[in-house]
Amino acid sequence: MSGQVIAVTGASRGIGAAIALELARRGHTVGCLTRRGAGVETGPPAPELAARMVNIACDVTDEAALRSAFAALAGRAGRIDGLVNNAGIHLDGRSAELPTGVYDQVMATNARAVFVACREAHRHLAARGGTIVNIGSFFDKLGVKRNLAYCASKAAVGAITRCLAVEWAPQKIRVLDVAPGYIATELNAEAMQGKLKAFLEARVPTGGPGTAQDVARLVAALFGEDVPFLTGETIYLDGGQGMAH
Ligand SMILES: NC(=O)c1ccc[n+]([C@@H]2O[C@H](COP(=O)([O-])OP(=O)(O)OC[C@H]3O[C@@H](n4cnc5c(N)ncnc54)[C@H](OP(=O)(O)O)[C@@H]3O)[C@@H](O)[C@H]2O)c1
Repeated sequence: MSGQVIAVTGASRGIGAAIALELARRGHTVGCLTRRGAGVETGPPAPELAARMVNIACDVTDEAALRSAFAALAGRAGRIDGLVNNAGIHLDGRSAELPTGVYDQVMATNARAVFVACREAHRHLAARGGTIVNIGSFFDKLGVKRNLAYCASKAAVGAITRCLAVEWAPQKIRVLDVAPGYIATELNAEAMQGKLKAFLEARVPTGGPGTAQDVARLVAALFGEDVPFLTGETIYLDGGQGMAH
């Protein structure tokens, strides 16, 4: 299961960068699809990892860009075996005043782009089979104030995952949803301090937020093990927070 060719969207920073680096570390060729086309931007990857990374410019809300990004990766690497739909945005606001445009923007990036990327990757995966991992969120099943659009978009990711898993299982394409809880990244480091830090220490059974590396290792493990019977599932990675009473 090593040496696969895997596209990762939103690989510039945060969880996507950690996933791209971890997959490269494990010997895979990684198509880093980012808006600026500069690959992982959190620091230059070690040369042996950079050699396995193909940087491609791609805004996931642009259907044509997704199509040509997959064609470019397949052209460079010879084929595509997997896709990680990681790119996402989080916009919040009181639901009573939430502009329709904000709702549409969140759905376009977090949900519609996941469907389009899966559909466009399908032509590359159909002949040999493969694995798609969508990055959802444990907010998919929670009622969170001021997070209507984000929660709806991540619930859609779970539904898209289940439908495609059932439809594409005969072609040996596994589709999974990895749904993180609170994850500390460079971007939210400040927000994770203070009141939220104390809340998470008290509320998360494992004692606080997870790390981007936790998500990356789980995603890499899913690519590393060929378990065809595991498909369509949403795997929560939240330190038990979503199930804790
Ligand atoms: N952090 C958490 O606590 C947490 C928890 C649950 C789920 N998640 C999910 O995990 C994923 C990554 O989150 P993160 O925390 O790493 O967020 P982040 O640090 O804000 O990174 C988001 C990534 O998505 C990319 N992106 C956004 N819109 C895009 C577009 N239209 N086209 C291409 N790339 C785009 C960004 O690229 P640019 O650099 O170009 O902006 C960036 O690489 C998201 O799907 C998020 O919903 C995060």
